[in-house]
Amino acid sequence: MKKTILITGCSSGIGYCVAHALHKQGYHVFATARRQESVDTLLAEGLESLRLDLADSDSIQQAFEAVMQRTNGELYALFNNGAYGLPGAVEDLSREALRIQFETNVFGWQELSNLVLPVMRRQGYGRIIQNSSVLGFVSMPFRGAYNASKYAIEGLSDTLRLELKGSNIYISLIEPGPIASQFRANSAKALGQYIDVDKSFHRERYLGVLKRLHKPGPAVPFTLPPEAVLKRVIHALESSNPKPRYYVTVPTYLFGFLKRILSTRILDMLLAKAGNSN
Ligand SMILES: NC(=O)c1ccc[n+]([C@@H]2O[C@H](COP(=O)([O-])OP(=O)(O)OC[C@H]3O[C@@H](n4cnc5c(N)ncnc54)[C@H](OP(=O)(O)O)[C@@H]3O)[C@@H](O)[C@H]2O)c1
Repeated sequence: MKKTILITGCSSGIGYCVAHALHKQGYHVFATARRQESVDTLLAEGLESLRLDLADSDSIQQAFEAVMQRTNGELYALFNNGAYGLPGAVEDLSREALRIQFETNVFGWQELSNLVLPVMRRQGYGRIIQNSSVLGFVSMPFRGAYNASKYAIEGLSDTLRLELKGSNIYISLIEPGPIASQFRANSAKALGQYIDVDKSFHRERYLGVLKRLHKPGPAVPFTLPPEAVLKRVIHALESSNPKPRYYVTVPTYLFGFLKRILSTRILDMLLAKAGNSN
């Protein structure tokens, strides 16, 4: 029997790549997307696709029920992937801006996980894969909302892993560094929507942020294609002993190592430099 997987955020980037690749490998993929036009494209490309907006509980519930109907209540895996970065200095983040960042990146993911977990417990197996980030364990300037959302995902995942011990349900975190995708283009849109740059103390520095977000091609060295993440997703799906964490890209390995050996002060110097240089 084909293994079933529900994936969020399949309109572009990592979700798009993983959905197509797993479909080709014989998985029964539910490639979901926030916008109907993306669903239509995915359907036209031969994938089974549904609308799922992580910021909308009704949409999450409806997509989950549709999947359950089509699989007779079975689901092997969930790939929590759909998210975006809201750039901006921490002092420029309104309560509303922080809330909307968490609605998609954290609350939507956990709501969906909490729908699939009873299914996985009933069937006695399952995999949840969380697409976190290197920014889920180190911070960079002007990424506070996104950093906080990924740290929250790391905290929830670490706790859930302890609570799932012995259940034959595995939760894995993937921690990519820079990956070629629509991520920066979508971040630029979010910045325009939620940050009042002209009123900010950091007005001048936002020019640099915008330059990085609009830069064509890779913004930083060591950027990898989404296939680098796919490789870890496949391991998390198919290994009999999936890892709690998968590092992807040189910056993730580097900062993972440096965080273990350096003091916060020294690490801050490197992160401030890395975060401002691009
Ligand atoms: N690219 C990187 O450098 C990088 C590094 C580390 C981690 N990540 C993580 O990788 C994941 C995928 O990002 P990506 O790099 O592939 O960027 P991307 O190309 O921008 O893809 C993000 C996907 O998330 C979707 N999304 C946004 N808001 C959503 C919502 N409310 N409900 C459902 N889907 C929503 C987007 O849909 P729309 O097209 O409709 O907006 C898009 O399909 C994210 O979790 C991101 O944090 C990326």
